[in-house]
Amino acid sequence: MMHNIVQLAYIAATVLFVFSLHWMNNPKTARRGVISGAAAMLVAVLATWIQPQIHHHGWIIIAIVAGIVVGIPLSRVPLTAVPQRTALSHAFGGAAAGLVGTAKYFLWLSEGPEELTPFRMIAIIAEIILGFLTLTGSLMAAGKLQEVKWIPQRPVTYPFQNVANMGLLVIAAVLGVLLVLYPAEPWSSAAFLAIVALSLIFGVLFIIPIGGADMPTVISILNSYAGLSAVAMGFVLDNKLLITAGALDGSSGLILSIIMCKAMNRSFTNVLFGAFGKVQKAGAGGEEKVYKQESSEGVAQLIEQASLVVVVPGYGMAVAQAQHKIREFYDQLTKRGITVKFAIHPVAGRMPGHMNVLLAEADIPYSALVEMDDINSDMPQCDVALVVGANDVVNPAARYDKSTPIYGMPIIDADRAKMVIAIKRSKNPGFAGIDNELYFKDNTFMLFGDAKAVIGDLVKQLAGGSGH
Ligand code: TAP
Repeated sequence: MMHNIVQLAYIAATVLFVFSLHWMNNPKTARRGVISGAAAMLVAVLATWIQPQIHHHGWIIIAIVAGIVVGIPLSRVPLTAVPQRTALSHAFGGAAAGLVGTAKYFLWLSEGPEELTPFRMIAIIAEIILGFLTLTGSLMAAGKLQEVKWIPQRPVTYPFQNVANMGLLVIAAVLGVLLVLYPAEPWSSAAFLAIVALSLIFGVLFIIPIGGADMPTVISILNSYAGLSAVAMGFVLDNKLLITAGALDGSSGLILSIIMCKAMNRSFTNVLFGAFGKVQKAGAGGEEKVYKQESSEGVAQLIEQASLVVVVPGYGMAVAQAQHKIREFYDQLTKRGITVKFAIHPVAGRMPGHMNVLLAEADIPYSALVEMDDINSDMPQCDVALVVGANDVVNPAARYDKSTPIYGMPIIDADRAKMVIAIKRSKNPGFAGIDNELYFKDNTFMLFGDAKAVIGDLVKQLAGGSGH
């Protein structure tokens, strides 16, 4: 009876997880997706806990309290820190899988070698390799994104790096095969611990050659490793829910990484082994190029004459939290009969859907958000392209300059608009660390300042102007 209830609860949790992912597809239903994911987790924990063979309730309560103590501050991080926060979650997932695998191995070893069947050993080895490399890999990735001082942001490379890294993994795999064949020899537990150590070291070395700009993609790959280690854990513990939930996690992480790679026109191998973001000091030539600057008053006058304005938001809009001011700006222009569209680049900002989330938060209608491929055909008719804290995603060098790290990335064709107004705080480059010729074009005007303050000024100018 109890067994059937638990299995039914597991099926219900799996269904909720599937719907959760489905609802995440659309900003309108995303909140429901979060709630159903949390509900699925609650059902899963309770259904596991009520089983009669579960004892040690005190330990379970301590673990739940520990989870809450860590989870609540994690939920409070600003949106710009969500990628590294996500990486931390994967690190915890990897650690959990690795530790459960280790505990199970030593438990079964003490109970007798017949417990360590080849099937169980294969699952345990997969679990600990994936779990422990996800732990250190994700911690390194989070550290790079958080710009922790002692973790270099730039890719660190040395000769034979990829061969040496792969060598570590091969040694771990060979030891794993030996353990499957001889799980309970006098040397077996030492070999087991050696696999743990090699996996932990591999996680660190795997991330070292990858630059900060590629971290979101790598985090999503680590997400799929964490999912796969949960699948292996499901086989070890003979728990079907862990297998299905882990498989969902693993495949969604993989799909997301593929989407991100496509959006940046990069291959998987290039992200993992390409050392993107290495030594690139753009503008070797000494000559200072000149920007044309404009005041917010002047810009407001230019914008008032436009009939189509395309706003191109980027990471700077997120940093400045300018979305609410942009909403007011949008209202001012639509009131005057000016069409306003938002050009959404798939990798603008620092995480997938970053711009969509912020603009939705400010209640900007979804119909005004236009994906890159669709907006680009409108750009020649666009009177003003208003670039708000975007840089790499509007850099024309991506089209032709093979020496830049963004070469081949599709961009929003802001340079094809009749006029460009670019809002940023300084002359500093964007994430890829390269100059942007868009800012030096004849029809580009720079409006220097914090995006929120500048858009606020524009709104004031426009509101004042409409008064007469
Ligand atoms: P970036 O190229 O990083 O440029 C952002 C610009 O915003 C900077 O040039 C900065 O200039 C400006 N800025 C910063 N704070 C500001 C503020 N408070 N007010 C106004 N401007 C501000 O951003 P992007 O164009 O969105 O491109 C995203 C980059 O991240 C791409 O290289 C992309 O490949 C990479 N990336 C993204 C993702 C995802 S999934 N989104 C994943 C991997 C990699 P100032 O310092 O002069 O203000």
